[in-house]
Amino acid sequence: MKIVDVPAQDATVSFGGVLEKIEILRNSLRWASNLERPQIEKLLKQSNELRDEVMQLSHKERFISASAKAKTRAQLSSAERRQALLDRQFVYDGVFGDNPALLECLETAEKAAPTDLPVLVDGESGTGKELLAKVIHANGARADRPYVSVNCGAIPENLIESELFGHKKGAFTGATSDRKGKFESAHNGTIFLDEIGELPLPGQVKLLRVLQAHEIQRVGSDEPIPVDTRVVAATNRNLLQMAQEGTFREDLYYRLSVIQVTLPPLRERRDEIPVLLDYFIDQAAELLARPPVRLSARLRRHLLNYDYPGNIRELRNIVLRMGCLADDLADIEHLPPTARPATGSTAEVQGIDITSMSLSDAKKVASDEAERHYLEEGLRAVNGKVSELARETGMNRSHLQTLLKKHGISYKDFRESAKPG
Ligand SMILES: Nc1ncnc2c1ncn2[C@@H]1O[C@H](COP(=O)(O)OP(=O)(O)O)[C@@H](O)[C@H]1O
Ligand SMILES: [Mg+2]
Repeated sequence: MKIVDVPAQDATVSFGGVLEKIEILRNSLRWASNLERPQIEKLLKQSNELRDEVMQLSHKERFISASAKAKTRAQLSSAERRQALLDRQFVYDGVFGDNPALLECLETAEKAAPTDLPVLVDGESGTGKELLAKVIHANGARADRPYVSVNCGAIPENLIESELFGHKKGAFTGATSDRKGKFESAHNGTIFLDEIGELPLPGQVKLLRVLQAHEIQRVGSDEPIPVDTRVVAATNRNLLQMAQEGTFREDLYYRLSVIQVTLPPLRERRDEIPVLLDYFIDQAAELLARPPVRLSARLRRHLLNYDYPGNIRELRNIVLRMGCLADDLADIEHLPPTARPATGSTAEVQGIDITSMSLSDAKKVASDEAERHYLEEGLRAVNGKVSELARETGMNRSHLQTLLKKHGISYKDFRESAKPG
């Protein structure tokens, strides 16, 4: 029996094209009386290709419907924007709250994902650049193709070219066999060029050439090898400034940053801290096989106001450390010394350092402090009864619960019986 070849996959996938291929496949199967293994393999391969095309189409559909909805984005509240992302089944291996600047980044990533456009993610160390790169890959049509990560800052200068583009046996001392580079490994998938600002100038020139020509040459070989690789790069440096100073090629910067996403530091999205705390506390509990650690009120207050120079990575490490060191209730002493309150006292975090805080931040800290004080005093007065406090203050009970949660205040600590004797 002859199995008709399904036409090769076109660059553009369409519903019509897919239907035609399914018809050919159905005809092959309809007239098959008994199939040999190689023929089964061939049919399997054809169906796998079809499945890939259908997936590609479904990604496109999602993108189109997301863009249609995006038109009304300006009218949506942050909470609605967050919910809309979740409803669109945006794949994100982490948590996010309602912070508008972060939502903007995620929405941009979502739109960029199904395209092959290069994306540059910048932001301080620990803000989630690598996480976002994976998100861009995971939400695109290449999701089940390779994702290859290269840390440009971690490769010795003389090996960068071979690492990225591979080499031929004998190309240099130590090149004992032919070797594939990262670009070839990422063929049809995504290559993540981390710390791109650390790539030395000669490497930048070669990279630019590859991005322009869509083909690589292994070190020591003249043979061009076509590569179809989607590029996402990340840096914690200001590449434009580096370009002005002559340490980063301007043309490469523009080629990499067709879409640029700047992740805000955690201190500029403090409203995300409670969500992240909960997430990492659960993660730590699972990792360390222990019940979730509870935070003392003053520790939570400090963690909500702390500056996190190491951003989310630092927050995560702090929580892991607490999960390891604290028994049930974590307190200031379970923090690494560098993250403890600067005042030296573990009592109250009241000292405001005007050199490190803007007026609006200072107002926020003071207002948070007043809010917490109000809630604690209120709970004390009603012996820890939340419904009573709600009644007395005329506040909505669930809003009150949300506020208590935000401040890490447990009503139980205000029950008469909970007080140490
Ligand atoms: N929104 C988030 N939710 C959960 N984890 C996060 C989030 N953002 C970052 N992380 C975690 O924080 C750590 C640092 O993120 P990473 O992407 O490596 O940062 P960067 O590349 O900017 O230094 C990682 O463990 C990452 O999984
Ligand atoms: Mg990183």
